[in-house]
Amino acid sequence: MDERTLHTVLRAVTRAERILIVTGAGLSADSGLPTYRGLGGLYNGLTEEGLPIEAALSGPTLRRDPALCWKYLAELGRACRRAAPNAAHHAIAELQRRKPGCWVLTQNIDGFHRRAGSPVERLIEIHGDLEPLRCQGCGAPGGDWDALLDAPLPPRCGVCGDVIRPPVVLFEERLPEAALETLYREMQVGFELAISIGTTASFPYIVEPVLQVERAGGLTVEINPGVTALSGQVDIRMEGRALDIMSQLLGHTLSD
Ligand code: APR
Repeated sequence: MDERTLHTVLRAVTRAERILIVTGAGLSADSGLPTYRGLGGLYNGLTEEGLPIEAALSGPTLRRDPALCWKYLAELGRACRRAAPNAAHHAIAELQRRKPGCWVLTQNIDGFHRRAGSPVERLIEIHGDLEPLRCQGCGAPGGDWDALLDAPLPPRCGVCGDVIRPPVVLFEERLPEAALETLYREMQVGFELAISIGTTASFPYIVEPVLQVERAGGLTVEINPGVTALSGQVDIRMEGRALDIMSQLLGHTLSD
């Protein structure tokens, strides 16, 4: 990455009070988690049952064939629990600690932003989270992942016998109202700088917040080794892995 670009973004990060950091699976790729699309992505192939993963991990499948849905939910759960936040998650959390106007909008359900110390009141988990597990029928607590992964699937509620599930947004399910309201509220306040990290920007609620910063005259940056739906619309594209770029970027900023 050329020094001029790094300096421009460094200056923007240092000066901005209101910063929106939008993150996707690519941020956790450096923690060893598979992305959904692109090289090695979960969604590139079909499941053993010949289904697209979006069908296996959908709300209707959880209702119709909970064992099938839970086969792939358990895979996601296992992968996330075996991995850990990387230095880029920690750098983002440190930036948020220094800048009360710095927010994270994440599509990731791995919980790594929380584990890295991002303040939960400024973390919008638009696709939910893997915890707390709850019964989808009566809402009773569903225990923890370690116990669940050792027991037969699908996990069933000890109170009513219905299926236990994580608070993630499965395909064909609605986004969490509270997260959307928070996002729209903060978009109304506005941001001077938006940084998209490790996402194909496949959804309007991910693209629109970045484009709104652009339209309002703020600076928009994308950090990604690949080209995405946002690449041609942001002011600055930093081509590379999140871990490398964020370490350079926030390493300088945070050392001041
Ligand atoms: N650093 C930065 N970006 C990376 C890295 C890396 N080390 N490795 C891969 N990428 C980029 C890829 O180039 C790609 O653009 O991360 C992106 C991953 O894209 P997706 O797999 O589509 O993940 P994401 O954009 O988060 O998907 C959004 O889709 O299916 C839903 O719920 C799922 O939350 C997910 C959402």
